Amino acid sequence: MAQPNYNINSLIIFCFTTLFVITGTGAVLVTELHSHGHGGSELKKLFVFGDSYADTGNCRKSVTGSWKPPYGITFPGKPAGRFSDGRVLTDYIASYLGIKSPIAYKWRKSVTRSQLQYGMNFAHGGTGVFNTLVIEPNMSTQVKLFQQLLEEEKVYTRQDLNSSIALVSLAGNDYATFLFKNGNLQNLPSLTISIVSQLVMNLKSIQNLGVERIVVTGMEPMGCLPQLSAFSSYKNCSESWNSASIFHNQILQQELQKLNSIERDNSAFITLDLYSAFMSALKMQPHHSGNSELRSSLEPCCVGVSDKYSCGSVDEKGEKKYTVCKNPELSIFWDNIHPAQNGWHAVFSALKSSPSLLKLH
Ligand SMILES: *[C@@H]1O[C@H](CO)[C@@H](O)[C@H](O)[C@H]1NC(C)=O
Ligand SMILES: *[C@@H]1O[C@H](CO)[C@@H](O)[C@H](O)[C@H]1NC(C)=O
Ligand SMILES: *[C@@H]1O[C@H](CO)[C@@H](O)[C@H](O)[C@H]1NC(C)=O
Repeated sequence: MAQPNYNINSLIIFCFTTLFVITGTGAVLVTELHSHGHGGSELKKLFVFGDSYADTGNCRKSVTGSWKPPYGITFPGKPAGRFSDGRVLTDYIASYLGIKSPIAYKWRKSVTRSQLQYGMNFAHGGTGVFNTLVIEPNMSTQVKLFQQLLEEEKVYTRQDLNSSIALVSLAGNDYATFLFKNGNLQNLPSLTISIVSQLVMNLKSIQNLGVERIVVTGMEPMGCLPQLSAFSSYKNCSESWNSASIFHNQILQQELQKLNSIERDNSAFITLDLYSAFMSALKMQPHHSGNSELRSSLEPCCVGVSDKYSCGSVDEKGEKKYTVCKNPELSIFWDNIHPAQNGWHAVFSALKSSPSLLKLH
């Protein structure tokens, strides 16, 4: 792959707002739903790992915007630890499976037993497979927390895991961190290979703990995130970052094919094609998404009033240093990195009609 030119400034910002959540799930879920229907006696359990695209409340309140207004204004109506105005990928996948969104790991001891029946969410915003700039557990540590829960806290039995699904989200914090630390993305191919191999090790560990199906997100078009399209006034996606996403997805696909070829049913590991799904969500609303003040569907709804601030920022006097668009329910992007609920809705609609899902029938 040609070595793209990466803009260092874009990267730094990318890092600081490094609140990605990773999620992934899909095709498998569909089949299950079709065979058992909603509300059957055998409820699926969903275990979630990764970053901000999947986190529903694990990140600590002191470090993240997800617990501050205006996050959560659409759902649940106040900040609740989701990196969006409302629902995120995890919520859509749980709903597709006919279950409630699994409880965040952090809250496991303050809820009733019955609230644990849908599984658990270990995803932490800002994390990657390697350590990033946030002090939150990386993916292998998240898997260890899951293992401890099974072995020490004995919340779930082996049988419980029999019909369970894991959703694993990896949205790019490892790339952003590498760029931040090294100033460039030289040797991108070897970086991608090391990220994907670590990811694959984590997927195997999750499988070894007894989870039946594992759904992992492919990389979204990183170059279309507002953080990067801002350099073209939200007119164009960054092609070099998008090619990095494409390369990541090629390597991931190859590795998962290898893994699946040694499985009995050939679909233990499923990829969610977030790249195409984001692209089709953006194409459906090419102009201003009904928000006349936004220039294009690449422009986020909630932004800082200047470069110093971001969505959710307040100054020393507690005054708001961000603006929110009039109609978040029509935006694709909520902040510089994260889709709005409407964006996730559009992305999930695209995923539902993707071949990877249909293949399972
Ligand atoms: C994950 O984090 C733990 C604790 O910081 C660290 O020991 C481990 O090396 C990290 N894993 C990877 C793959 O970087
Ligand atoms: C898991 O479920 C399958 C089919 O329902 C069953 O054949 C198998 O014995 C179960 N395995 C465990 C460990 O419960
Ligand atoms: C966006 O892309 C188009 C087509 O490649 C190009 O002509 C245009 O100059 C770009 N605009 C900006 C602001 O980069």
